[in-house]
Amino acid sequence: MTQALLKISVLLTKTHKSLLNVNGVACKNPNQVTADDFYFPGFDKCGNTSNKLGSAVNLVNVEKLPGLNTLGISMARIDYAPYGLNPPHIHPRASEILVVLEGSLYVGFVTTDNKLFTKVLNKGDSFVFPIGMVHFQYNYGTTNAVAFAGLSSQNPGTIRVANALFGSKPPISDDVLTKTFMVDKKTVNYIQTQFQ
Ligand SMILES: *[C@@H]1O[C@H](CO)[C@@H](O)[C@H](O)[C@H]1NC(C)=O
Repeated sequence: MTQALLKISVLLTKTHKSLLNVNGVACKNPNQVTADDFYFPGFDKCGNTSNKLGSAVNLVNVEKLPGLNTLGISMARIDYAPYGLNPPHIHPRASEILVVLEGSLYVGFVTTDNKLFTKVLNKGDSFVFPIGMVHFQYNYGTTNAVAFAGLSSQNPGTIRVANALFGSKPPISDDVLTKTFMVDKKTVNYIQTQFQ
């Protein structure tokens, strides 16, 4: 960047704070980077599955591990109580490969043609969820299950389908939801209360 341009951009950012937008995370000064920027301990720790879904996701993305910035990868540990569910969700920026280390899981994803691909995974089995597809994992078993996943983005993003539709703030209009799901207003409002 020329000096003149640099001056203008500095001036602009000083006077209008919101003018400079970075889509992603800015790079650290290389002189201040340390080994700790590439280090994440704690994947041996079980997540807390004492919640309505009986699951816990520890997604280690660029926010938690700065060294992932620009590298296009991240990782997650997912714990499942018996009958625990990682509910239908989408990663808008990543494909995912999941491996089961303990227990067994019923997993699946739905394609753009609404075709469902499912599999029961046991210890040591892997499954791929292609980018942008609605997918889930359910622990059918009576024991805990543990899975690890690799994702093809430093910031995969997660959209939980039910939360997006019934738990948005402010809520989506009843007119939209009753017609989408072909149910009455009472049913829509009941489901909405589950996400407050
Ligand atoms: C797990 O989460 C539940 C519900 O939020 C909480 O009551 C409990 O103390 C947590 N357990 C641990 C070990 O953090």
